[in-house]
Amino acid sequence: MAVEIKSAAEIEKMRATCRLAASVLDYIGPHVQPGVTTEELDRLCHAYITERGAYPSPLNYKGFPKSICTSINEVVCHGIPGPRKLVDGDIINIDITTTLDGYFGDTSEMFVVGEGSPEAQRLIEHTREALWLGIMEVAPKKRLGDVGAAIYEFAHGEHGYGVVTDFCGHGIGRQFHMAPQVAHVGRRNSGLRLRPGMTFTIEPMINLGRPETRILDDGWTALTIDNKLSAQVEHTILVTETGYDVLTMRETGWHPPKAPIRC
Ligand code: MF3
Ligand code: CO
Ligand code: CO
Repeated sequence: MAVEIKSAAEIEKMRATCRLAASVLDYIGPHVQPGVTTEELDRLCHAYITERGAYPSPLNYKGFPKSICTSINEVVCHGIPGPRKLVDGDIINIDITTTLDGYFGDTSEMFVVGEGSPEAQRLIEHTREALWLGIMEVAPKKRLGDVGAAIYEFAHGEHGYGVVTDFCGHGIGRQFHMAPQVAHVGRRNSGLRLRPGMTFTIEPMINLGRPETRILDDGWTALTIDNKLSAQVEHTILVTETGYDVLTMRETGWHPPKAPIRC
């Protein structure tokens, strides 16, 4: 399938929706506290997004019942907000997608409730580092295999984590999920050749144990097969003439100390 190249006007719309999606994470962070339910986080994000003239893309997407995804501990992705109260030591991924003026922006972040175990903290830090190693491969003429290889070599090769292959990053624009698929494993110098104007997500899911997942009877919630912890972080990326632009970057967002925020 052909991969879209966005025009300058479309890129401006992508910037706006991605900026909004990122701001939701800044907004919701302080609400991630022991005792809050994931349903309450969903309600707050829904109100924040709709008050700003946008739509929370997950809501009714292929039947998904809520406005955000909340994936706690062994949940890999697509957790459905509900009555579960957060407790001290939980780790939670909050995945926000907004539709603004017809364009989608997609980003997710990990939060620790109270104090996480050193193992959980390390998993989250390594997952952020894996995402950024992938991001830093993005440039014209580089290939998607370079992105997946950088993530896998670090997460599995150096640290022995399970890298999830059941779910991928994806092209994004006027559709939530479009070509190309962005795998978090790969072989260098293989796969799609990147060109300025492409927009896609990178969203590695990194497991403390095995990489396999299973889906609950709700048809959405993906869990690790060994019930060990999983972490994920996600950005929407634009390929520029010289490299990459992280469209969902936040002032307060994590990035590697020496990496440029924009280039
Ligand atoms: N935001 C998720 C992603 O990163 C997709 C969620 S689909 C939903 O691609 F239906 F679960 F919302
Ligand atoms: Co995504
Ligand atoms: Co997402």
